[in-house]
Amino acid sequence: MNSQVLPPNEENIARAAQALRAGELVAFPTETVYGLGANALDTKAVQKIFLAKGRPSDNPLIVHIASYQMLDALVTEIPGDTVKLMQALWPGPLTLVFPKSAAVPSVITAGGETVAIRWPSHQVAQDLIRSAGIPIAAPSANLSGKPSPTTAEHVLEDLHGKVESILDGGPTEIGVESTVLDVTGKNPVLLRAGGVSTQEIECILGKRVLQKNDASKVARSPGMKYRHYAPQAKVRIFTGNVPEPDSALKNALVTLDALEDTRFPLRSHFSGSEQRMAREIFGLLRELDKQQVDVVYIQAVEPTGLGQAIMDRLNRAAEG
Ligand code: TXA
Ligand code: MG
Repeated sequence: MNSQVLPPNEENIARAAQALRAGELVAFPTETVYGLGANALDTKAVQKIFLAKGRPSDNPLIVHIASYQMLDALVTEIPGDTVKLMQALWPGPLTLVFPKSAAVPSVITAGGETVAIRWPSHQVAQDLIRSAGIPIAAPSANLSGKPSPTTAEHVLEDLHGKVESILDGGPTEIGVESTVLDVTGKNPVLLRAGGVSTQEIECILGKRVLQKNDASKVARSPGMKYRHYAPQAKVRIFTGNVPEPDSALKNALVTLDALEDTRFPLRSHFSGSEQRMAREIFGLLRELDKQQVDVVYIQAVEPTGLGQAIMDRLNRAAEG
């Protein structure tokens, strides 16, 4: 298969929608990262996602919608004050976990009784879902374990030949994935930090969001147990002083603000902007791999707001 990178004009969106209806895989931009889409109601099509990514089958997928009718067909219940969250934050980078309806194939939920749903705000994603007229299952469009793709080129690097087409919407705006929130229990539980902050959710709901660790009875987002976001290079996170690098290795230094440290010939920063760091960090890790860097020293940021998602991803990259 020759994966085509296409500008997301009307004709190409209609074509991609047709491919999705026919059971093919299409990669598309969202406001967070690029997704690898398949018809969520077609088990065979969804199986292709797992194959293309090398994704373990016990890791459930997010279903992307573009209307409340689609939502109603996929869930049996919209728990209490979840409506407040949907009204305030949808479309956007928030994924909600609901009790699933019989319409959701078990390949999506890894056999579980809940389904994760997100209404993306990206215009191309919305147009594609509407044009296809079906809900679209989509994980991040990277090989399992690699940093998520924030450009069409990243998708092509990982999935060339495995996807019918890639709609190129340019670099994604947020750069880290959606926040995943389980709303099936009495209190909402954060399963994955992401584009919407915990503080924002708590403010809308007027109650505390449990972190997955303090909700012992609730399984954490299954995907989070796997190796993730791991570049070839070793990732070392530091606070305070920059550690002494091993001069026998090729080292890179990544900081929030500009930092002159001549021990590191390769230095990157984000002009003090966490938004920019979220947007660029995955692409930077891929770029440093291309330059065959051995060790990337990354300065920790405050783990609140968007910083919570950034630190979550960096800590996983450092484990890899
Ligand atoms: O921003 C995003 O969410 C991107 C774009 C493409 O929408 N998608 C994405 O999908 O990041 P993925 O598959 O890479 O991550 C989905 C996460 C995984 O950690 C998975 O375990 C969790 O959501 N998840 C999916 N269904 C779930 C469920 N029913 N219960 C708990 N966690 C679930
Ligand atoms: Mg992913």
